[in-house]
Amino acid sequence: MARYRFLILNGPNLGALGKRQPEIYGTSGMDALPPLIRKVLGDRADDIELEYYQSNSEGALIDRLEQAREQGVQGVALNAGAYTHTSLALADCLAWIGVPCVEVHLSNVLARSEPLRQKSYIGRHVIGVVAGFGMMSYALALQALVQHHEKE
Ligand code: DQA
Repeated sequence: MARYRFLILNGPNLGALGKRQPEIYGTSGMDALPPLIRKVLGDRADDIELEYYQSNSEGALIDRLEQAREQGVQGVALNAGAYTHTSLALADCLAWIGVPCVEVHLSNVLARSEPLRQKSYIGRHVIGVVAGFGMMSYALALQALVQHHEKE
């Protein structure tokens, strides 16, 4: 039986991964993730039961986070897309739900040309940030969530 129940939560425009600006976000979709998780975690990958949800809408992401709390989900790898840089509502949700969350970005948001991308509303409420490794960012975030639980 899996030891950890984790959620990958993707925000706006991340349903088009692989097609959307591949020069920035890469050519793979989320289906490329399982082998990367196995590469990073080895047999520990079997310890994780993974759920996935994507929405373009801010309220739906908040609803899904509240649901994760109620379901006892033990960690969230959250790529909030542009809401990272704009959403006080998402930040307010993360501030109270008590589910460990890693902020994820495919691109290195700190190295991008638009200054707005260097601001994160959610950063104060996450255990850490992984950015710039393409799809591998998600696998590293899951590894970080496992480590987070194992140091407790
Ligand atoms: C992103 C970076 C955000 O700035 C952008 O709005 C996205 C994707 C990333 O994964 O690199 O939609 O979160």
